[in-house]
Amino acid sequence: MSDSTRSTPTPVPRPTGDEPVLRTHVFDGIQEFDQRLPNWWLMTFYFAIVWFVLYWTLYYQGGFFSDDHDRVTTELKAIQDVKNKELEKMLATLDNKVLWTWSQDPVVKNEGQAIYTRICSACHAADLSAKLGGAPLPGLPLNDQEWKYGNQPMDVFRMVSKGSPDKTQAIQMPPWEAVLSPSEIAKVSAYVMSHHSPPAAPN
Ligand code: HEC
Repeated sequence: MSDSTRSTPTPVPRPTGDEPVLRTHVFDGIQEFDQRLPNWWLMTFYFAIVWFVLYWTLYYQGGFFSDDHDRVTTELKAIQDVKNKELEKMLATLDNKVLWTWSQDPVVKNEGQAIYTRICSACHAADLSAKLGGAPLPGLPLNDQEWKYGNQPMDVFRMVSKGSPDKTQAIQMPPWEAVLSPSEIAKVSAYVMSHHSPPAAPN
């Protein structure tokens, strides 16, 4: 601090009327007026306090506005409802006969194959053999005549939707109903069955 800053401030006569008072202290040679805060500033300050109380009461305590979590949950539920409706409609018309017909339909087969490659081939191999370069993959072969859970298209449909029925065994097939729509499950099941022959029509 220089000497000049220590000097006693010039005494200021008490103002009359509205004039601002110059306060007596000096910091680093700086004096300050004792001003009233401007009204516009005070208004924003009081408004912020009122806003806080309202917001805190309505949003956090009153639950008047739904938050992001609630909105997302509601939307997901709506999507799930649509899927469930689709499933109900699909299951009402879907049976082994329909899926055997689909398994012979090149368009359905193509779409089913795309889903198979994306999701199933990791465990069941692209050629359905459940083997990669001779090494066994986690899934079961889907192109042989041995079926652990049934040899009909609807067995495959159920297996893909729900996954392994026995939830205690070490290696399981995961359920796909949360990932694939019912029609996608139907198409991928049809693709799997396209590697098998439909039962001969009874004469
Ligand atoms: C994470 C690996 C994995 C993926 C991915 C997977 N599976 Fe499986 N899958 C398995 C396993 C493991 C089993 C045997 C389950 C058991 O024994 O309970 C199995 C069993 C099956 C069966 C029953 C076979 C039988 O002999 O009865 C079918 C059908 C099947 N999977 C189809 C599919 C289809 C279609 C997909 C794609 C939508 C798929 N899987 C994706 C691991 C997988």
